[in-house]
Amino acid sequence: MGWNSWNKFACNVDEEMIKSMADAMVKSGMKDAGYQYVNIDDCWQVSRDADGNIVADPQRFPHGMKALGDYIHSLGLKFGVYSDAGSKTCAGRPGGLGHEYQDALQYAAWGVDYLKYDWCNTTTQDAEASYANMRAALDASGRPIVLSICEWGTAKPWLWGKEAGGNSWRTTGDIKDRWQGKIEWKPGNCCSYGVLDIIDAEAELYSYAGPGHWNDPDMLEVGNGGMTETEYRSHFSLWAILAAPLIAGNDLRDMRPGVREILTNKEVIAVDQDPLGRQGERVWKDGDLEVWSKQLLDGGRAVILLNRGKAEREISANWENLGYTNHIQASVRDLWRHKDLGKFAERFSARVAPHSVVMIIVRP
Ligand code: GLA
Repeated sequence: MGWNSWNKFACNVDEEMIKSMADAMVKSGMKDAGYQYVNIDDCWQVSRDADGNIVADPQRFPHGMKALGDYIHSLGLKFGVYSDAGSKTCAGRPGGLGHEYQDALQYAAWGVDYLKYDWCNTTTQDAEASYANMRAALDASGRPIVLSICEWGTAKPWLWGKEAGGNSWRTTGDIKDRWQGKIEWKPGNCCSYGVLDIIDAEAELYSYAGPGHWNDPDMLEVGNGGMTETEYRSHFSLWAILAAPLIAGNDLRDMRPGVREILTNKEVIAVDQDPLGRQGERVWKDGDLEVWSKQLLDGGRAVILLNRGKAEREISANWENLGYTNHIQASVRDLWRHKDLGKFAERFSARVAPHSVVMIIVRP
């Protein structure tokens, strides 16, 4: 769990902004809720020096990356950076190709705890070998560093990401702040994804996720302004049932109370972080109506009733679809109303508003 600069700020990153975001992570209650990584995405780097060392933008990061990492650590948080397995990053900055061990040593010297490693400008490189090489370089640095594989799902990283030593792997192209719709970046160059497009891509991948090696449906858009609060609540709930990395992507310094309540809902976060480490599955679907279920360590199930459509509808979660027998009496707790709803047999049904979810825990 953490925060990343890209979704809100793109290339507009600098030391003061990142420090104030780290401060805000503490003050807003995000740190208390479990968020810890403060990750700078693309564009912090400008060149390589005569020895090939990666150089941070001296205008935007005048005190250097080590000082920034020290500041983040002083708040009890962790420090993340971004690079790319190819010759250049997606924004055209110097990539890591041919400098993997040198960069890993540099990151370790700066106190980096997390590396997001992108896949632009990789021409004929083999994806698994490239990421395994970076993992070996990070390990050789002597510092434990999370490796977040950002390959967009093209070479099916769920099949090899764990063996390559990745801790997570993106499963799709980039998220955009929208409910639904894949849209080409430019003609022939597919696509950015909405929330529903991403969950559809992840639905079949649940068996590949587990502790320390997760499917990554991309960073959160909660609070960035393109969706309604209802849609953001659904987006966050679905990421939690997918056991996704929860990397906020909004400006933490001026969050509306409603946005803050979504991102810091500890009951929903506990579903995401459940120690069993299962990714939830879509267990029932009828047109726009879906039921998702995630097995929890204590034998309970986190369940989402999702209404993708435009009209309010009733949705039922049948115990058999959750892997229980129907006659079982199970308690139901609503994770957004923070309320125990009582004991139910056979099923739980609720009216679900358009683009909304009801999220519950069912415990026999
Ligand atoms: C790619 C990644 C994004 C972001 C940008 C930065 O598109 O998928 O998440 O890191 O590059 O340029």
